[in-house]
Amino acid sequence: MILVTGGCGYIGSHTSVELLSEGEDIVVLDNLSNSHINVVKRIELLADKKLRFVHGDVSDESCLRSLFENYDISSVIHFAGWKVVFDSLHSPLDYYDNNVAATLNLLKIMNEFNCKKIVFSSSASVYGDSSKVPICEDSIVSPVTPYARSKVFIEHILRDIVRSDDQWSALVLRYFNPVGAHVSGLIGEDLSITPNSLMQRVAEVALGYRKTLEVFGCNYPTSDGTGVRDYIHVVDLAKGHLAASNLINNHNGFECLNLGTGCGYSVLDLVQAFEKASGRHISCTFTERREGDVAVCYANPERAQKMLGWEANYGLGRICEDAWRWYTNNPIGYKDIK
Ligand code: UD1
Repeated sequence: MILVTGGCGYIGSHTSVELLSEGEDIVVLDNLSNSHINVVKRIELLADKKLRFVHGDVSDESCLRSLFENYDISSVIHFAGWKVVFDSLHSPLDYYDNNVAATLNLLKIMNEFNCKKIVFSSSASVYGDSSKVPICEDSIVSPVTPYARSKVFIEHILRDIVRSDDQWSALVLRYFNPVGAHVSGLIGEDLSITPNSLMQRVAEVALGYRKTLEVFGCNYPTSDGTGVRDYIHVVDLAKGHLAASNLINNHNGFECLNLGTGCGYSVLDLVQAFEKASGRHISCTFTERREGDVAVCYANPERAQKMLGWEANYGLGRICEDAWRWYTNNPIGYKDIK
């Protein structure tokens, strides 16, 4: 059985659907701090299966121990963690506690129960601003925020554990910018929980919740002066986890893999694609650069393609169509679902 921590979150819920649909036996542990109990129903609806769900926290040792006692867990996909870069700049202690200390707790219990295979949610933000694009996994790791550093610390811990015990195996997945939603419009990123990302803010303007999109910086060294990112459809990302979860059963060692498309799009490219998908005008206002932002960030995804036999399939147009379906069907997120 696979333990999926944070399996009700944005990326976790899409991965849970893919795993269940492929017949994998999973148990989800989620404290619902960044999600909603209604997500469980939606995952079950999409996979047409019952989901084993435990409401609890990765930092709770007794909760974790009872999970490992009750289920025969052979590997873990570890999503649970906070992800708001801005918050991490102001509450670094909370971020290190919630991301690093909780993961240490998980790893200790895994070791105790001889479960030594983990797929870990890392982030392209570990590369900071120091890398040449496209970014490959051997690029210099140079995080610029506590959030990104919390990911780097965990990567180091995993590397050390694997080095110390050859039964351990860790696949670290460095995500670029996850966006979009399931084609059904039933699961997606909840606007009522953390409306921080560019895609969420664009959707808020399209829905009339926000008058204008603040574009953070117009003088970056890019084609139109706005920041460039590698936007990857969340279902592509979820399928990457499925592939990683399959690989880890026959894999020993430590590996970092970029999950991205290999294409970079500017803020204005995304706005234009969203306008086309939604048929709504997105008003933009140019403001100062945002603290902690880098100019350009997109992946060289070749290593993941080779090792996982996986690649991203969906482009920006499809991403925006799926996102718009989700936002229009669930304008206040999961709260109003019966
Ligand atoms: C995102 C993730 C971060 C992840 C990283 C991986 C979020 C909130 N952050 O950061 O967790 O580790 O990718 O590379 O999902 N922008 C605007 N106006 C806005 C919001 C954003 O102009 O209102 C711009 C930003 O300056 C940036 C781009 O849009 O150029 C993308 O921003 P965002 O969606 O916040 O993602 P990242 O900062 O790249």
